[in-house]
Amino acid sequence: MSKPITDFDINTLDPFEALVWQYEMGVDEAIADEPLDRFKASESLSRNAANRPGFAAPNPRAGRNGSAPSPAARPAVAPATGAVPMPPGADGGFLLSDTPHEARQSARDAAAAATSLAELKDAIEKFEGCALKKSASNTVFGNGNVEARLVLVGEAPGAEEDRQGQPFVGPSGKLLDAMLRSIGLSREEVYITNILPWRPPGNRQPTTAEIAVCEPFVRRHLELIGPKVVICLGGSSAKALMEEDRGITRLRGTWKEMVFGDGAKADLTAMFHPAYLLRTPEQKRLAWRDLRAVAQKL
Ligand code: URA
Repeated sequence: MSKPITDFDINTLDPFEALVWQYEMGVDEAIADEPLDRFKASESLSRNAANRPGFAAPNPRAGRNGSAPSPAARPAVAPATGAVPMPPGADGGFLLSDTPHEARQSARDAAAAATSLAELKDAIEKFEGCALKKSASNTVFGNGNVEARLVLVGEAPGAEEDRQGQPFVGPSGKLLDAMLRSIGLSREEVYITNILPWRPPGNRQPTTAEIAVCEPFVRRHLELIGPKVVICLGGSSAKALMEEDRGITRLRGTWKEMVFGDGAKADLTAMFHPAYLLRTPEQKRLAWRDLRAVAQKL
């Protein structure tokens, strides 16, 4: 632990101490060669968001994975149109090129052109419309039984998933395994993927634009597998796939029909994210209830 820095003047600091201090403050990875003024980006996002009815700026301090933030603190998702709304400038500076709309359209085109999971994986790995790819170590596509009747969709890879290139291999993955076992399922029998294939730096909450841009890939992913039941793990996943602006506390345990482009259908539900359950074990009671409902559906 470095000694606390009270009178902050970066120019008088020993460079090593300054580095240690930054690390302890959570600055644990370099994202780009040039600094970005995030305050400016979030100011313009808030201004744009404030001008649009039903749209709230993402809260960068909100926890990942299903902590149940107030509806006002989270972006709304358009009801039943299949499109996540994006205000101009909502990329928060995280998109590599194009506008979010262009990036989303190119994700749609690439996803639609993929006729197999291998082609879809290739398309995602080649996709340049989301800057998260730049800071991630690996693309986390998904894994499990490609003929599974049950697919689980998380939010985004964490540190361990980013290192290994596989979904849910960290602490929340261990709890997820136990949850599946409680209804007699193993990892080998289900398929697991995420809304975002790349880890947001420092595990921050994904932005609305990142989710909107990557969403066509996850929809095509599901379509190519053709499951009977899809579980959204956590609020981001539930809002995107259920096309709802309600939080996970309200969405969990509810069911919706998901209709794919080819006309196939799946039963879609949501439950608390395992990472949230690790932090809030008293909510496990509700998670087991939701799991039993899934078992019955299957
Ligand atoms: N959390 C997620 O949402 N997905 C993962 O793959 C790991 C942790």
